[in-house]
Amino acid sequence: MGQVEDLRSRFEIEYGRPPRIYRAPGRVNLIGEHTDYNDGFVLPAAIDFYTWVALSPRADRTLALRSENFPDPAEYALDSPNDGRRHQWSDYVYGVALTLERAGKRLSGADVLVAGEIPIGAGLSSSAAIEVATGYAFLENSGQTVERVELARLCQRAENEFVGVRSGIMDQFISCFGRAGRALLLDCRSLEHRWVPLPEGISLVSCNTMVRHELASGEYNRRRAECEEGVRILAEHLPRVRSLRDVTLAELDKYREALPSVVYRRCRHVISENGRVLDCVQALADGDLDAVGALMADSHRSLRDDYEVSCEELDLMVELANEAGGVIGARMTGGGFGGCTINLVRRDNVDGFRRAVAEKYRQRTGIAPDIYVSGAADGVSEIDALQS
Ligand code: GLA
Repeated sequence: MGQVEDLRSRFEIEYGRPPRIYRAPGRVNLIGEHTDYNDGFVLPAAIDFYTWVALSPRADRTLALRSENFPDPAEYALDSPNDGRRHQWSDYVYGVALTLERAGKRLSGADVLVAGEIPIGAGLSSSAAIEVATGYAFLENSGQTVERVELARLCQRAENEFVGVRSGIMDQFISCFGRAGRALLLDCRSLEHRWVPLPEGISLVSCNTMVRHELASGEYNRRRAECEEGVRILAEHLPRVRSLRDVTLAELDKYREALPSVVYRRCRHVISENGRVLDCVQALADGDLDAVGALMADSHRSLRDDYEVSCEELDLMVELANEAGGVIGARMTGGGFGGCTINLVRRDNVDGFRRAVAEKYRQRTGIAPDIYVSGAADGVSEIDALQS
């Protein structure tokens, strides 16, 4: 807990009084990629890398925001709201505050210090973690209660409307609902969810390609639009269809000729991926780790070939993982176009895995990758409450 004490003392130096401290986790997604905004299924797990928020109330309705990761502080007067983005880290925080206020949650002012340990731009959801951590902290600071489901929804809305990425609900949801030792099966249509125990003796290992191709957010929104086009065309033939969740692979093939070929492939990924999520949950319940690995490999191939959101570096990282010992499964995780792979690795093999993958990736690309080892963690909470 040295880290908490450090944050507390830096807050006291900055603002002259003690804070309350909150944290929200990043995530990996075991399987179910690009399904959330298609009303489908996902299987993420929170990781024990967090965004920390130290906060103390103010008498006025101003939010004074500082980050340990970025130089630029920011101040926002909640009584003079404006939609202007500053194109800096504080957009995420202010976007959440504004969205909470617009949803009728009147917030109190606060002095805030944020410290993030989730690598930024690596596909581990540092943005959802800062949204959920600050949203949760602002509500507590204002004596407001809100269900976690609603907090996840409001943070997603902030990202969609204020930051401008049309992301689904997965990242904010798992940052709210993570549970130690478990992944979370989430139905993104009904938001019904249940926790799925991870096998004993397994680590979640994320390998960072250290590349982030610039097209990421534009291509993300484009994929969404292609899926919507698929739904529109398929619904002309199948009027009950409201999203790709409602279409089977057989139906998709029946109307293949009606769809542009790119749209067909996007739909095939989403529909087959939904099936893989449910199969993976079953395989985990059966303890059939070979099946889990095969499903992860199929997911990666489908994202690479049909959905076209992988890249050379991600493909290489998966290939190297599969050559290393003790690996149950490997695939890209998150939106794609760079960022991380997720690898399920037997704990005894983690050190060897790290060394082998890092060395070979460096030889092949000239880039030294960061590799993060985690268990599945709990969702957002106040830290003092945890300790007491
Ligand atoms: C990003 C988005 C999520 C999800 C994934 C892809 O992480 O924030 O909502 O769509 O990409 O599965």
